Amino acid sequence: MIYTAVAMTPLALIGLYDLFQRKHTLWRNYPLISRVRWIAEELHPFLRAYIVESETEGRPFNLEDRALVYRRAKNVSSVEPFGSHLDIDKPPYEWLAHSIAARHPEEADPRVRVGAPGTAQPYSASVLNISAMSFGALGAHAIEALSKGASMGGFYHDTGEGGVSRYHRQGGGDLVWELGSGYFGCRAADGSFDAAKFADTASDPQIKMIEVKLSQGAKPGHGGVLPGEKVTPEIAEARGIEVGLTCISPPAHSSFSTPIEMLEFVARLRDLSGGKPVGIKFAVGNRWETLAICKAMLETGLRVDFMVVDGGEGGTGAAPAEFLDHVGAPLRQGLVLTRNALVGTGLKDDVRLACSGKQISAFSIAASMALGADWVNTARGFMFSLGCIQSLNCHNNTCPTGIATTDKTRQRGLVVEEKAIRVRNFQRNTVQALMEVVGATGCVHPSELTPRHVMHRVTEDIAYTAERAYQLVQPGQLLSAPDETQLAREWRMAQAHSFQPAD
Ligand SMILES: Cc1cc2nc3c(=O)[nH]c(=O)nc-3n(C[C@H](O)[C@H](O)[C@H](O)COP(=O)(O)O)c2cc1C
Ligand code: SF4
Repeated sequence: MIYTAVAMTPLALIGLYDLFQRKHTLWRNYPLISRVRWIAEELHPFLRAYIVESETEGRPFNLEDRALVYRRAKNVSSVEPFGSHLDIDKPPYEWLAHSIAARHPEEADPRVRVGAPGTAQPYSASVLNISAMSFGALGAHAIEALSKGASMGGFYHDTGEGGVSRYHRQGGGDLVWELGSGYFGCRAADGSFDAAKFADTASDPQIKMIEVKLSQGAKPGHGGVLPGEKVTPEIAEARGIEVGLTCISPPAHSSFSTPIEMLEFVARLRDLSGGKPVGIKFAVGNRWETLAICKAMLETGLRVDFMVVDGGEGGTGAAPAEFLDHVGAPLRQGLVLTRNALVGTGLKDDVRLACSGKQISAFSIAASMALGADWVNTARGFMFSLGCIQSLNCHNNTCPTGIATTDKTRQRGLVVEEKAIRVRNFQRNTVQALMEVVGATGCVHPSELTPRHVMHRVTEDIAYTAERAYQLVQPGQLLSAPDETQLAREWRMAQAHSFQPAD
């Protein structure tokens, strides 16, 4: 009797609370009982992920993709039994064309030299690096483990637009310092770019390259607001702002507004940093704008050292649903457009091309490299290597694995030394798998892959090489015969002096 009373009293109190609270109609109309629906909704992502989904379902990443990263991070064999789970008869299935004269590449760690001709401090980049994620979006332990893993494995760690934090420095990995429109780390009191602050930080030898972020695939053209209550002393230190002060990142940069001005800003950053490579990161939007940047390079002789194309399928800590789903080109279309722009204008030898957007398997990396990428970056791939379970709570500060949270008690579970090893393992084992598929195509370096190595199913009966499927532009064709390309109209619209279309 007493036990029943002990069990029933809290339930009765909750029922009474439901009856008189004013926020939830269902709770008022069906006290207590309607909470079953609420609990089911809260647990839905977990129930779906662990009970309902098959290996090839689940989004943004399916179970098979995640399991691949987990195994590589734990140094466990990634071989699988019996056969492919994929629907290989349906578009847009793709495969790599292998060679009868397959080879065994000796190189375990292929590198890419970054720095347009004349760059004083060129950088030798790995083909797989950690994509931009700010301190603040990720907690201190996650940042330090990523940086430490990068240091152990000899690849780079992009700071994200939130500046260089003490945890990036503690980890010791090579850094690419990202500058967003908020200029965190080199921000004047009015939010504009401060050259002296930039030069001071950029001279740090740990910083190998600078990346000007024009946009991000998950939310291109959307600025950000960092509410004052999130500006802790550590975040304020990394971003060079006042503790507790609300900070705005506008949708566009205040330092330039035309393609030529952007190149002049890049050249200025290169000078101020003592000759480090400076690149741009963007998701492709208006196609003529990418071509306009190329026209500006041709007209001025100025160069960006590298371009990172981010896909619309890319991740973020938080973004409006419409931007996540429907703004910005998916990676494949963005990569092909940018490759066509650089190849068609003869700039591809001077400007390195990188990309990001679900680049976590050796196949996706090889296919991107065949289509023109010199290297790839991944953000969520490295989050999985840290133990992310895709619970989709990154925006709530309640990350169960201590990665996307500033809550110190949640971060406690993430042991930096252990996870740094997993970060290193994931990168090393993925690059090793890449070299195996590169060898199968008859090449010894990923840079030898061409669009002819990628077969793309366009219908159930027909498959073309990527070259034909995407109608790729030939070297110099935009200069010699633009009207013979599928970019003829956009090429006419592109202007070096404005991002606006010419007609
Ligand atoms: C938690 C999180 C934070 C991110 N923060 C930034 C950022 O500060 N700057 C940026 O350019 N991209 C940012 N991104 C985007 C990634 O760098 C990357 O471009 C995108 O997620 C695609 O890569 P992925 O599919 O491998 O995750 C962030 C992504 C995530 C998941
Ligand atoms: S486990 Fe953490 S980092 Fe991963 S999706 Fe969930 S909240 Fe985001």
